[in-house]
Amino acid sequence: MSVLRGKIALITGGTTGIGLATARLFHAEGARVFVTGQNADTLAAARTELPAEVEILRADARSISDAENVAAKIQATTGGLDVAFLNAGVGRFIPFQAVDEAFYDLHMDVNVKGVVFMLKAVLPLLRPGASVLVNSSVVGQKGVANFAIASASKGALSALVRALAVELAERDVRINAISPGPTATPFFGKFGFPEQVRDAAIGRMVAKIPFKRAGDANEVAQAALFLSSPAASFVTGSDLRVDGGWGA
Ligand SMILES: NC(=O)c1ccc[n+]([C@@H]2O[C@H](COP(=O)([O-])OP(=O)(O)OC[C@H]3O[C@@H](n4cnc5c(N)ncnc54)[C@H](OP(=O)(O)O)[C@@H]3O)[C@@H](O)[C@H]2O)c1
Repeated sequence: MSVLRGKIALITGGTTGIGLATARLFHAEGARVFVTGQNADTLAAARTELPAEVEILRADARSISDAENVAAKIQATTGGLDVAFLNAGVGRFIPFQAVDEAFYDLHMDVNVKGVVFMLKAVLPLLRPGASVLVNSSVVGQKGVANFAIASASKGALSALVRALAVELAERDVRINAISPGPTATPFFGKFGFPEQVRDAAIGRMVAKIPFKRAGDANEVAQAALFLSSPAASFVTGSDLRVDGGWGA
């Protein structure tokens, strides 16, 4: 199967976790893939883990000029874009009382500003029939203690996707959100907890998931493939949970 044969795809935050799994899958399905990341170590590791044809670009999601450079690079190399998976994101646990400006800015700048301005930068490149996919989270729809700021940033994405689905239809561009539940990726290691506390917190979440396990990055990638493919040609403005039933 090559459901993305001939398509050009951008995946932000494609150096680890869900983005990396999706980059592999999109490449295997025939797409020419560009991924972004900002950390020098994960950029270098991704180079060894991804097929040589996948192009890896350094771009900080918080930087509008980095987004514009990514768009210019894709424009110069390919002349257009068919799939934009806006996936780069952060999520750290902290009691609400401990939230400070830097913590707030990190979540809003990566998760919201990063999506808004990357989409704005690549919009002129999107060809008719293109698909935009935003990686939100089930925590945008469901309350989780100590995760208020991450949840607020993901909730903002859901509203953004609904509004843009109406606006972008005129250009024959679809936009959807995907909302993973807890998914075993390096994300878990960035919660900001000591390991034992982190494992206990994950264990409590997993116990509430009807499937009694965390998701796998490949399971989210498969859902991303569907929403990005022509098979989803009449799907826009939706938010697909990939969460083992947690949000249900
Ligand atoms: N794993 C979960 O349980 C889960 C659940 C719900 C939603 N999600 C969402 O899924 C998305 C992917 O997460 P993941 O689980 O795959 O986690 P991950 O392995 O930590 O991947 C995050 C990706 O985002 C990139 N990124 C982070 N900050 C960035 C920045 N400032 N500029 C550019 N890239 C940046 C990272 O690149 P660098 O290494 O270069 O920073 C990495 O490629 C995120 O939006 C996350 O919120 C994850």
